[in-house]
Amino acid sequence: MDEARRGGWASRFGFIMAAAGSAVGLGNIWKFPYVTGANGGGAFLAIYLVCVFGFGLSLVIAELVMGRMTGRNPVGAFKRLAGRAWPAVGGLGVVTAIVILSFYIVVAGWAIAYLFYALDGALSATDAKALNALFAHLTGAPLTPLVYAAVFMLATAVVVACGVAGGIERMSKLFMPLLFGILVLLVLRAVTLPGASRGLAFFLRPDWSSIDIGTVSAALGQAFFSLSLGLGGLITYGSYMSPRQNLGRDALAVVLLDTVVALLAGLMVLPAMMAAGMTPAEGGPGTTFKVLPAVFAAMPAGQLFGIGFFLLLTLAALTSSVSLLEPVVSYLVDERGFKRATAATLGSLACFALAVPVSLSFGVWHHWQLAGLTIFGLMDFFASHLSLPIGSLLTAICLGWVVGHPALDELASHGRPAAAWAPVWLFFVRFIAPFGIAWILIQGLIPG
Ligand code: PHE
Repeated sequence: MDEARRGGWASRFGFIMAAAGSAVGLGNIWKFPYVTGANGGGAFLAIYLVCVFGFGLSLVIAELVMGRMTGRNPVGAFKRLAGRAWPAVGGLGVVTAIVILSFYIVVAGWAIAYLFYALDGALSATDAKALNALFAHLTGAPLTPLVYAAVFMLATAVVVACGVAGGIERMSKLFMPLLFGILVLLVLRAVTLPGASRGLAFFLRPDWSSIDIGTVSAALGQAFFSLSLGLGGLITYGSYMSPRQNLGRDALAVVLLDTVVALLAGLMVLPAMMAAGMTPAEGGPGTTFKVLPAVFAAMPAGQLFGIGFFLLLTLAALTSSVSLLEPVVSYLVDERGFKRATAATLGSLACFALAVPVSLSFGVWHHWQLAGLTIFGLMDFFASHLSLPIGSLLTAICLGWVVGHPALDELASHGRPAAAWAPVWLFFVRFIAPFGIAWILIQGLIPG
């Protein structure tokens, strides 16, 4: 009865697509290229990959295990497994999901706006100045971006209100493969643009001299953001998993897909950026939007590619934003007894209220800064540099030390004993992840 009320995935493929849909989103296509650009390129990429496979993979499994063991939202999962103060970790996750959504929907709103520009033929300009101006015009306006953000928030709420298999799973199954296809085509064009090779070298050839602890901390935050880790989104998705599903193999598939899409996005954006004469460090949050129109313009049927790309970007953002709203909603449903639709409405209203200052911080409130960060910058810093690593650290400690060996039983499938790699996984969760993340957090806090 309880399970029927919560819902569950209809199929294994559906789960993988939904979890990969959660992971693959603006984090890969919008954020990864400009954060890589700002942090020196190839060396950042190398550290990012170490974070993904050194910490991320074992933590993705850990969150899914926690969800499936308990069948609960983040707060409920910590309550069932560890009790005492631990549910606060889930609570931090729910708050973080709301904070991330507040800027996620703003950027997704830009994607919708660009979809209309593409339909209008307004993206045919190729010179960097005009494309910069277009982006500044959109994001600097007080009202327009918020209207698009509201539309996107509404779409997210509707999908979430429709439930797990009916809404999230059905949508992801269709759009994720399409997105992949169009990305490959865009990469092929971008890397063959005249002048693209410098961008390729920047992305793929590490320059270790550009690295400091800030780079490492940025790579860690980016890895967690991109893998949807650290706020219990995957705990929630795991709670809808069938006990028959091979959790480890499916987690690996999700991590690989997410990483491949980030790499494709880097290969698409950074070469095109340098081909257009922009330096990677100066791109900022507008990078993907400012650079890609030049790639479309250099392709046959470029307008069509533009339309397809921004449509799929919006949809990829949607399969991620639902996974940000889902922990909030499942918390309100499981722990507070709300109806799904009411919970989705309340969560969305909170996110939209926060999105207003975020959106204005790209325009009229740009000068409101703290320690050199705008309101958007602060939200992003809180999420990526603090909350996601801290949430992941505490999740690893809870599962690795408080729960310990019984967690291994979750990795047994079809009545067979746990796979041979399961103890290795537990070692990563107990030692590598907590000590590695704690070290990076502490180093990052030491001044100088
Ligand atoms: N992983 C998503 C992306 O890359 C964002 C996200 C973060 C989703 C945290 C859920 C939880 O766009």
